Amino acid sequence: MESFRIGSLNIKLPVIQGGMGVGISLSGLAAAVANEGGVGVISCAGLGLLYHRKASDFLNDCIWGLKEEIRKVREKSSGLIGINIMVALSNFSDMVRTAIEEKVDIIFAGAGLPLNLPSFLTPTSETKLVPIVSSSRAAKIICEKWKTNYNYLPDALVVEGPKAGGHLGFKKEQIEDENYSLEHIIPEVIEIIAQYKNDKSMPIIAAGGIYSGQDIHRFIQLGASGVQMGTIFVTSEECDASYAFKKTYIDANKEDIILIESPVGMPGRAIRNEFIGKVESGTEIPKSCPFHCIKTCNYQKSPYCIMNALYNSSKGNMKKGYAFAGSNAYLARKISSVKDIISTLKIEYSIME
Ligand SMILES: Cc1cc2nc3c(=O)[nH]c(=O)nc-3n(C[C@H](O)[C@H](O)[C@H](O)COP(=O)(O)O)c2cc1C
Repeated sequence: MESFRIGSLNIKLPVIQGGMGVGISLSGLAAAVANEGGVGVISCAGLGLLYHRKASDFLNDCIWGLKEEIRKVREKSSGLIGINIMVALSNFSDMVRTAIEEKVDIIFAGAGLPLNLPSFLTPTSETKLVPIVSSSRAAKIICEKWKTNYNYLPDALVVEGPKAGGHLGFKKEQIEDENYSLEHIIPEVIEIIAQYKNDKSMPIIAAGGIYSGQDIHRFIQLGASGVQMGTIFVTSEECDASYAFKKTYIDANKEDIILIESPVGMPGRAIRNEFIGKVESGTEIPKSCPFHCIKTCNYQKSPYCIMNALYNSSKGNMKKGYAFAGSNAYLARKISSVKDIISTLKIEYSIME
């Protein structure tokens, strides 16, 4: 697999580990992927729950938690580190500012259009800014706004298709429609960005449903410079989730991977379980909104608190939550090291050459 560049950064292994909240991709997984030459990504979602301190509040705990995770990842790896921030989080700007102060290599921002992201850069900052988009329209809007308002263009773009895990940037009816497949969107995005930069100076990273070296090869042939993979790393030894969370992947069959309506107002992909069944039957109701964590979440109309549900599942309390997962999660059969996962990907890729 060939290296590629995001600005001044040389990415030896063209694999970005997708940011996975709450508590699924922290310093443990990020360091392991970075040590293999890819980009390790810490998810910012819910850090305040994971780093709850008595005399503090959720928003300050999030900042503290992010600093701690960056410190821990640097202890374990000198490789490239990114953070993933959802634009829909109410503390988006806190997280971006902290990441830039801490000199994180790359910020990946999705679940909404990060229209003001360049405004946080300082004259000396070298952090690269990489939006996550699910359409050429979103890519164009971001390029136009950034160019007009900040004279800045994305350092790369993650293009995430409908087979990804977690929240999806598609309407429900688009998810199964071939016209919205990742194979369709990638060439459309490449055509749009050609109006702004050549494809090597704004590389495209393909994401969603990529699970083998053959898949990586296919998307590189389509014009991507690298791939972002989430699901495949959940069943790694180094993944920061509990064993119970990882086991839901190993036990899942294809028909267990379903689409849900998230309280955030977007569809999501997850593994069916008892909790999701209760939500569907209307017996799961949130009592209060403890964190005000997501701008678009109306807790009075939400069937449950997503932050609590994802936190519970990451800790292994699957009765009070569920696991987000990509469409290929059912392919996981055992827990392996990140090193083994990556060497299998390399072998599979080399067969295609
Ligand atoms: C458990 C899980 C949690 C995720 N959480 C986030 C998140 O917090 N923010 C985000 O932008 N993407 C999130 N994603 C999407 C991944 O970062 C990744 O882009 C996507 O899953 C790629 O598809 P794949 O899982 O099929 O490889 C999540 C995915 C999974 C499986």
